[in-house]
Amino acid sequence: MANTPIKLNDGTTIPLLAFGTGTVHYQKDAQDLVTTAINAGFTHIDGAQQYKNEESLGAGVVAAGKPREGLYITTKLNKPAEGKTVRDTLVESLQKLQLSYVDLFLIHTPVQFSKEPGRLKAVWKEMEAVKKEGLARSVGVSNFRAAQLREILDGAEFPPSINQIEFHPYVYKEVLPTLELQKQYGIVTESYGGLSPVVRFNGGSLDPVLTSIAKRLSDTTGKPFNEAQVLLLWQRQKGVVIVTTSTKESRLVEYFNTFDAPGLTDAEIALIDEAGAKEHHRQYVRSSFGTVALLSADIPK
Ligand SMILES: NC(=O)c1ccc[n+]([C@@H]2O[C@H](COP(=O)([O-])OP(=O)(O)OC[C@H]3O[C@@H](n4cnc5c(N)ncnc54)[C@H](OP(=O)(O)O)[C@@H]3O)[C@@H](O)[C@H]2O)c1
Repeated sequence: MANTPIKLNDGTTIPLLAFGTGTVHYQKDAQDLVTTAINAGFTHIDGAQQYKNEESLGAGVVAAGKPREGLYITTKLNKPAEGKTVRDTLVESLQKLQLSYVDLFLIHTPVQFSKEPGRLKAVWKEMEAVKKEGLARSVGVSNFRAAQLREILDGAEFPPSINQIEFHPYVYKEVLPTLELQKQYGIVTESYGGLSPVVRFNGGSLDPVLTSIAKRLSDTTGKPFNEAQVLLLWQRQKGVVIVTTSTKESRLVEYFNTFDAPGLTDAEIALIDEAGAKEHHRQYVRSSFGTVALLSADIPK
């Protein structure tokens, strides 16, 4: 099922599928869609300080009326203003979200800190501190490549639990060195932009493969399946936590129904990997993975 939890390296668990409040909801009031998503079965909501809509995320959670302990809420650190600490920004987020803790707090992008020597490492120490204080149950990073992970792992009290990155077959080959390092520390990958081959790069080498697998799933199950759903299944089988989103209630239900399907076969996974490796398309953090992680890239083009 879509909410099947995945175990993190700090002993907590995270639901497989998240509703994201960035991209199409960036700087927009997300209240109604957050409530709709929770009512559709989402227990995991992905937010960020940079999305400038944490108040509406919080209001959407309140309006859904579900017990806090059954929900999993993420926010992400934007570079603190002069004189503010990481903790200060998280406390502000918690007020906006109407929460006493978040389940997951991520460094949104390393590039905001990497120009100042030692700053990234110092920020990670502050992240460790907010976890120890209980303001965040888990802490992690986003848009980090292997070199940046190594920088904070050196001297860390504990490793990040999550690295949230663009993840789909057209970038899979490129992120493998980062995934290798993550495996050594038990850092789980969280995907965003996972539907990009269908939403943003259609017409590529993956198209015929996704279409034929969608047809196979439709024939096997007797239910309609589309190419985006094949990508969701591919992500699940790669062991990643999936952050997706929609502006439509029907799509939110469709995302959930996807996970009732039987899995992709090993041969299908291999076909997707192979077709994805033939082309490289990246929507976010374009120039080279992790070196130019523009927060504005979190806005749909
Ligand atoms: N950490 C970061 O730097 C970062 C960067 C980007 C995103 N994120 C997070 O990840 C979340 C999701 O990002 P994303 O929007 O890039 O995710 P995505 O899963 O790649 O794309 C979601 C979009 O796909 C469309 N879609 C779904 N199924 C479709 C189909 N069958 N045919 C055509 N379109 C389809 C939906 O459109 P409809 O609205 O029409 O349903 C939706 O807007 C964001 O909201 C944010 O929370 C984080």
